[in-house]
Amino acid sequence: MTRVLVVGSINMDLVVATATFPRLGETLFGQGFATHAGGKGANQAVAAARLGAKVTMLGRVGDDAFGRELMAGLSADGVDTRWVGVTAGVSTGIAAITLCNADNAIIVVPGANALLSPDDLDVAEAAFAEADVVLAQLEVPLATVEHAATLAVRHGKPFVLNPAPAMRLPDSLLARSTLITPNEYELAMALGEPDAHWQGLLAALPGRVAMTKGGEGAYYSDGAGAVLHQAGFPVQPVDTTGAGDTFNGALVAFWDLGLAEAVRRGCAAGALSVTKPGAQGGMPTLAELNAFLGSRP
Ligand code: RIB
Repeated sequence: MTRVLVVGSINMDLVVATATFPRLGETLFGQGFATHAGGKGANQAVAAARLGAKVTMLGRVGDDAFGRELMAGLSADGVDTRWVGVTAGVSTGIAAITLCNADNAIIVVPGANALLSPDDLDVAEAAFAEADVVLAQLEVPLATVEHAATLAVRHGKPFVLNPAPAMRLPDSLLARSTLITPNEYELAMALGEPDAHWQGLLAALPGRVAMTKGGEGAYYSDGAGAVLHQAGFPVQPVDTTGAGDTFNGALVAFWDLGLAEAVRRGCAAGALSVTKPGAQGGMPTLAELNAFLGSRP
């Protein structure tokens, strides 16, 4: 059982389903509204836990109803929340999500996620020592992500960075990341190379990039810089929110199987995740993933 430490965001997703995306200044009637547990950090933690990893989450919520509901949800999925802080006077993070034809547009209001500090990580340093792999994203302050990388390196643990939402990564953070897991746009932004082709960027970081590409699956570079492809698993999408998070959670849950196999299972788990509503709604259990892979030639 892989021991995973996730450092990241916890959001309540406020999801409006609509037939078309609104234009600027336009008012539309939506088709439905739902709240779902979300946040890239929490999503990745839940994805890994459902697949059998022993997951600890390091994050922050507000002292409000969303925070309590999200904490209960993490615990119900078996995620250890002892290092999730609760701050009074600030809202739990939320994401306003417009869902249209299984695709989405998202506005994140970080709330308590913005208060997750390097000091919070120092208090929880034992969690880094106990982990087999540390996973982070970019929905908490960059200084905190950088400190997570520092602590992972200090304890000799692989540091996997999902550089989402997209931003240019400081060279020092990139250097401390064992593996980055962007999508195509995030890769270009992370490396500050908006005009470069993704294949060249992958080859330039041998063994250190696994790039998701929607229904096409994932591309990754091996230790010699060769670019390898894992094909996607065709499914009928209902809601693609959280597909990348599921890929990341699975990747670290299967870290000990090596990059190629972890990417393959990540793609399969990501495909299953889009078949149900909500970021976490379709994330498979280990039994569901095994059944899905077993039914493939
Ligand atoms: O990656 C999907 C997630 O991004 C959503 O759950 C939302 O909370 C945003 O953080």
